[in-house]
Parts: sequence; structure tokens; C-alpha cells
Amino acid sequence: MVAPIIIKKKIDPFKNKINVSGDKSLSIRWALLASQAKGKSRAYNILRSLDILSTLNSLKKLGIKVKLNKNFCEIESKGLNTFKDNKRITLNAGNSGTFARLVLGLLVHHKKTIKLVGDKSLSKRDFSRVIFPLRKFGAKFKYNSNYKLPINICGTEKPKPIIYHEDKGSAQCKSSIMLAALNTMGETFIKAKKSRDHTEILFKHLKIPIKIKKNKEYDLIKIKGQKQFPGFNYNISSDISSSAFFIVLTILSEKSSLIIKNVNINPSRIGIVTILKRMGAKIRFKNKKVYMGEKVADIFIKSCKKLNSINCPTFLNSQAIDEFLLIFLVAAKAKGVSHFNDISELNQKESPRLKLGSKILNMMGVKTSLTKSSIKIFGNPELKINHKIEIKNYLKDHRIFMMSIIAALSIGGHWKIHDPDSIKTSFPSFLNLIKKIQKT
Ligand code: S3P
Repeated sequence: MVAPIIIKKKIDPFKNKINVSGDKSLSIRWALLASQAKGKSRAYNILRSLDILSTLNSLKKLGIKVKLNKNFCEIESKGLNTFKDNKRITLNAGNSGTFARLVLGLLVHHKKTIKLVGDKSLSKRDFSRVIFPLRKFGAKFKYNSNYKLPINICGTEKPKPIIYHEDKGSAQCKSSIMLAALNTMGETFIKAKKSRDHTEILFKHLKIPIKIKKNKEYDLIKIKGQKQFPGFNYNISSDISSSAFFIVLTILSEKSSLIIKNVNINPSRIGIVTILKRMGAKIRFKNKKVYMGEKVADIFIKSCKKLNSINCPTFLNSQAIDEFLLIFLVAAKAKGVSHFNDISELNQKESPRLKLGSKILNMMGVKTSLTKSSIKIFGNPELKINHKIEIKNYLKDHRIFMMSIIAALSIGGHWKIHDPDSIKTSFPSFLNLIKKIQKT
């Protein structure tokens, strides 16, 4: 067990420039698509975290050549549907819901049974959301209870294209089906509620036959499968979800400013910036560019004395899905009552984040009103914490750990925060970056 982090003092005013690590969604997608490309692919600035190691180690078990050097990651594959045909392969997804759900899509055309396992948190999460549509392609599944890991999947020689309606706004479900479609002869149709679109952008840039019609709430996606594409190199931009911890730290701290370099600002990911700006925060994107269809920029942030509450429009939910714990923290310091509706998906994450987020705010002395799918936060710009708070038993959810550190450093109080090793799943350099900023 790693010792808990104790924080008794707010961070001093800071002015700094930082780089955060590579985007997790892009890192996993690059690796999975490289495993289907013919030849060698390289990724620069790939995230070096446990979720990515679970992805790379699983691909190795499936017979894909993977090299992780100091400067890049290289994957070599024979192409579409060429995973090793061994019996009894077990893949360990660790904590990664994204890898677990996406790899099942790639396995619909793999004729041997593969067992998929994960850690305690992942084994509590729902897989019916991908099992049902993947079954329609012809894959067979075995599981113990309630569609949870461990799961056995056995693909089929001739997967059949499907028509699928994704109505949760889950990019993991959409991408899992897109990867199944990639290996399936014929045309798969997906009607998907808006969610992050990195997989679509990569498909387009790899010239995989994909057509997308965008409507206000849904995208209609058509994919023609089994077109081989060659190996490709990719520069992974920094993760907006990791940057978000430092954005909120700066906003809630006094007389501080921060620049975060080269961050992915795909419009389907920047809900937190839109929401915080509506609440009065000073955030700017500068040096904007586009790389392989993905928008990238430097983010400039300044402390903010006056924050207003928000009645958060639900269309922003999927764009901010991983950042709500941080947004709740800002709402706790804002003037007035903030409302967040239709966010039951938060309870489907690494921990039940809606419930635990509310509980942490209550521990801080913030009043909330919680239902299964909504929260009202009674903000207080004068919020001061002088008591002890202990954060433990939260299924080692990395985002709960990091949000608690930000709360302690920006709002104050005497905090004991357990399980610092949770950051290894998505953002191993988090505590070092905090130290770097503290020194300025
Ligand atoms: C992800 C999608 C989101 C997000 C997760 C990463 C992805 O999950 O919470 O951290 O890379 O596709 P859902 O698609 O299930 O909402």
C-alpha cells in the first residue's frame, strides 16, 4: 500500500508553463488501429500509463509486435484480422474501460475464444452495452453474471454488418462497433448520440471508407468494412482531461496563471472549457492548429475571483463527461445554485462518480441535492474548509484522487487522500507537475 497524501495548506500563487502527457483516448485508438494496419506504425508522445500498458501488453498477447522506446512506440502488424490463432489467450484490461470495450469490437472476426479480465473497478462495470450489438455481428459471449468481466468472446468467420442505435452518448460503445465494422464485409450503419469523435477522425485520415452525416443530436455513420490500410505515424497531442485538473487549480487559486502547451481541443472534448467560461472563468486557446483532423492549441488560464452558477445545458454533458468532478468543485465556489441534469452515465465510470462527487462536496461543507441522474450544488464563494477530510474507499478512481488534491490545494482544509498510485492509470506525472507548480 502506498502512503496517503496529506495536504494542510493551499498552494501559493503561481505563474507557470507546463506540458501534460499524451491523450488517453488517442493513445488507445492509435494502438488498436495500428494493430489492424499493414506494416509498421509509430506513435510519438503516447501516454505512458497503466491503461496504455494494458492495451500494448494485450496486443502483444494477440501476436502483434510492439516496441516501446524512449521516444516512440512502434507497432507492426500483418493487417486486418491477423491476431494470433492460439487457444486460451487471456487479455487483462486492468482499469481501462476504453481498451476493454474497444478490443471486443476488434475480436468479432477472431475465431478463437479470448478471455477478457480487468481490475476490481472494471469488473463492476457494465458490458451489456457492447455485448448486445456485437452479438448481432455474430460474436458469441460467455460471462458469469450481469454482463460483467470476466467475459469470454468467440468471434465468427463471417461477421454480418449491423444497424445500431447508440443512445447513451458513449464513445466507447460507438467505437467498439466501428472497430467491429472495420473487420466486417458490407456496410454497417450507426446512429450515434453525440460523443467524442476521435475514431471517426482517424478512420477518415486512414482512408477507411466512412461517411458521416451530422445532425444536431445524432451522427449517422456508415462504414464499409475489410478495406486494408497501411501503417501510419501519429503525434499524440496532450490530454484535455488531464489538463482540466490544472485548469481548475488555476481558476480556483489566487493571483495565478498557467499555460498548458499543445493540448487536444477537439470540440467533442472541450465541454469543461465551455462550461467554465460560462461560469466566468478566463480561459483562452492560442496558437491553434490542426493535426490529422484533430484541433490542437496552447491553453492560457488565469485565476478567477467571481464565478457564477450554471444551469448546465445537457448537450454539453458528453463533451465534459470525464470532467464533472472538477466542474462540481468550481460550482461549489460559485455564486448561486448550479444544476446538472441527465448525467446518470457518471455512475457508470471507474467509480460511481455522481454519488461520490456529491459525497465529497458534502464532506467539504457544500450542500447538494442528488438524484440518480442529476445534482444541484449550492455554491458559496466564501467557502472555507478548516476541518479534516479523509478520502478513501473510492475504488481507486484516478479522477477522484486528483480532484481531491485540487480541492485541497485550492480551497484548503486538512486532507488525507488515499491511493495516490491510482494516478498510474491515466496521468502518472500528475503529482510531479503539482510539485513543479508549487515551486514557482
Ligand atoms: C472514452 C469515452 C468515455 C470516457 C472515457 C474514455 C473513450 O466513456 O468516459 O474516459 O476514449 O472513448 P464513454 O464513452 O463510456 O462515455
